[in-house]
Amino acid sequence: METFLGCKNLFIRFYNRSEQSLQNITLSINKGEKVLILGPSGSGKSTLISALAGIIPEHVEAEVSGEVFSRKNGGVMFQDPDSQFCMLHVDEEIAFSLENRSIPRNEMDKMIADLMLQVGLNVDRRTPIETLSGGMKQRLALACLLALQPEVLFFDEPTAQLDPKGRQEIFDLLHQLSKQTNQTMVFVEHVLDGCIEWMDRAILLNDCGTVIADGKPKDILQNFQKEMEAAGIWRPKVFPEKWSEVVENTSHPISMKLSEKLETKLVNKEKGNNDVVIRTENMEIGYGKKTIVSDINVEIRKGQWVSIIGQNGSGKSTFLKSVIGLEPIKKGQLYFQHKELKKWSDR
Ligand SMILES: Nc1ncnc2c1ncn2[C@@H]1O[C@H](COP(=O)(O)OP(=O)(O)O)[C@@H](O)[C@H]1O
Ligand SMILES: [Mg+2]
Repeated sequence: METFLGCKNLFIRFYNRSEQSLQNITLSINKGEKVLILGPSGSGKSTLISALAGIIPEHVEAEVSGEVFSRKNGGVMFQDPDSQFCMLHVDEEIAFSLENRSIPRNEMDKMIADLMLQVGLNVDRRTPIETLSGGMKQRLALACLLALQPEVLFFDEPTAQLDPKGRQEIFDLLHQLSKQTNQTMVFVEHVLDGCIEWMDRAILLNDCGTVIADGKPKDILQNFQKEMEAAGIWRPKVFPEKWSEVVENTSHPISMKLSEKLETKLVNKEKGNNDVVIRTENMEIGYGKKTIVSDINVEIRKGQWVSIIGQNGSGKSTFLKSVIGLEPIKKGQLYFQHKELKKWSDR
């Protein structure tokens, strides 16, 4: 039988590297299969997807030996939502994909509306892409991908930049899609909860870029626990439920590592003084007329390490941009070293 998608004795080496990124990979993926590719960072997961999608060697040059059975019109969704768009507004971006299929202009409106509905992108079609949250951007990326009607959908850590809620929503959406279309899907993911349950198969790479396991997800989870742990792959149901257990148990290895790190930080911090570097008073931030966060009252001291957490779209990046003066604040005060930020010279 002809291989639908796969490779045989595939070796890939990038020209600027001495070692191979993929070593002797042989695999065959059937039409309609949902396959999860796992492995440590740098093990060649993205390289494998790029080869199967035909990006290597067509668009990214590398020394390739062996055989690749790729599909000409595979579509890839990447982890960084922002790297995938070239237009300003939602509808134009989808139209751009439709143009690739030479869809006449007068048929596009309905198709754009249908695609937005299908991926749950319930915003105005003229919404500027830069104002979408990470999760919404990934929905848009998926709409653009589906607009191309690819034979195979590739996903390269599509939720890596999303918060847990955004991640779950994207997994649910993709699961839904997999049931509706019976499309072939190849995934790279680190977080298994919410996606491994509906995969037909998992393939595990090691850090030399070789396949060490290929089979039913359940068997791989059972038989390759150590390898997966070493690779930093999140085992299902360990996080976040047991997170508190880890933190409360001071002899847990993760907990010990954490407190070691925190102690170094504290020692370093005590060496500095306690000067307030950044202070805000009822600061309100946003874009144009739109307020994103109001009444921000924070003090950040010299040497402090501060983590800003929140859902996708809650204003973390906007806060950073405002604090470094890239976005004007809308209300309130922002002081840098006790002087209002706007009174400092631009330099
Ligand atoms: N375009 C490239 N040029 C040179 N080296 C690359 C390129 N892409 C990936 N590599 C290298 O190939 C190896 C595998 O990378 P990658 O496929 O990105 O792994 P993963 O996706 O599993 O993290 C790494 O050593 C990486 O540095
Ligand atoms: Mg990768």
